[in-house]
Amino acid sequence: MANVVIIGAQWGDEGKGKIVDYLAQFADATVRYAGGNNAGHTVVVRGERTILHLVPSGVLHPGKICVLGNGLVVDPGVLLEEMDLLRKKGIRLTSKTFFISERAHLIMPYHRRIDTAREKSKKGRIGTTGRGIGPAYEDKMARCGFRFADVLTAESFREKLKIILQEKNAYLRYILKEPGFGYREVLEQYSEYGRRLKPYITDTSRQIHELIARRKHILFEGAQGTLLDIDHGTYPFVTSSSAAVGGVLTGCGIGPRSIDEIVGVIKAYTTRVGGGPFPTELHDVVGAHLQREGKEYGATTGRPRRCGWFDAVAGRYSMRINGMTQLALTKLDILTGLDSIKICVGYRIGRKVVTEMPSDPSRLEKALPVYDAIPGWKQDIREARSLDELPRNAVRYIRYLETLMGIPFGFISVGPQRDESIIVRDPFEGCNRS
Ligand code: IMP
Repeated sequence: MANVVIIGAQWGDEGKGKIVDYLAQFADATVRYAGGNNAGHTVVVRGERTILHLVPSGVLHPGKICVLGNGLVVDPGVLLEEMDLLRKKGIRLTSKTFFISERAHLIMPYHRRIDTAREKSKKGRIGTTGRGIGPAYEDKMARCGFRFADVLTAESFREKLKIILQEKNAYLRYILKEPGFGYREVLEQYSEYGRRLKPYITDTSRQIHELIARRKHILFEGAQGTLLDIDHGTYPFVTSSSAAVGGVLTGCGIGPRSIDEIVGVIKAYTTRVGGGPFPTELHDVVGAHLQREGKEYGATTGRPRRCGWFDAVAGRYSMRINGMTQLALTKLDILTGLDSIKICVGYRIGRKVVTEMPSDPSRLEKALPVYDAIPGWKQDIREARSLDELPRNAVRYIRYLETLMGIPFGFISVGPQRDESIIVRDPFEGCNRS
């Protein structure tokens, strides 16, 4: 049996949605373990584009179990909207196939307002998605957050909300100069959310353990990317959750021995949305080509993504942090048409060339990429279904990246559609797919 984790190896937006969608057909359950609706997973099925922010991408395969683990911060209004949208597409989430952890935290309206108000001030701006993610995780750690279990117990929810709202309103009014929220309005809205979501709220750690005990295949769907991880990312320009592999354990309540494969998803070039250092960023025609051809606009906010060459220093770092056992390369087709393709193999910082990712953001800010280059290719590669069908230079590029990363690619995506992929080896290979 195989339980597989999918992790973004860069700054998010690596195309994880497509890999999850592919692997989900073999899995019994898809589980999200971290983040919230700051994520946006785009999946294209038979030409129809679906963007999911909370519900795992595995939902597009009928009858599969979908789980939101305890590591998430969930905006219940957004979740209900997403469930409605899925229903309109003919996908119904039922209490037998969709589970929300009673331990997952809730994004409250004041979290969103605090997030956007802080982003308005120039000082300390991160370029967040404005969805209230950071403030919700702050409250989780400060032990004053609300969990799904809280909205189900009316009495204690009322009491706790009164105390917390007073504090939040004072912070909003006097520090951030923003309006506060009325107690009744929040109480009624969140009690209603609780009523509507009650059928799905449960102890998801137990559910996952039962699936493991029954030797079912589970896909743990990462959001964001390793370089946005609160501990291992380019702090402070990170998200507030454990996006890397460690988040699976804390965010689902399982032990490390329940994980069989860790698949890193890495794009054939690099993108970043929001602020923070980005050594291989391009401000030229190639950057414009990557943005235009790769449709590099945030799935959540619509912001244009910053684009640059493949960064093997960052990629190798990500491999180390996650102990990846496999890699999936995405968006190779976007490089088609370029005369020459560069790969960053080190950083020049001052007089030194380093091949390890610096943890100090000011050093990373000064890093100048050291590049190798290989010739590009002109032929359309979207029809290729095996390595033999790719132009010679595309195979050279793949082989070079594999050498730099230390493991071969099991999956190479050559277009946005489900079937535009080269499958070298999939992580459920050899499993009993009954
Ligand atoms: P937050 O997660 O909204 O607090 O944003 C913190 C940083 O993470 C910002 O730079 C965001 O642009 C970035 N970020 C959050 N979620 C994603 C994602 O799904 N893809 C790419 N960047 C993200």
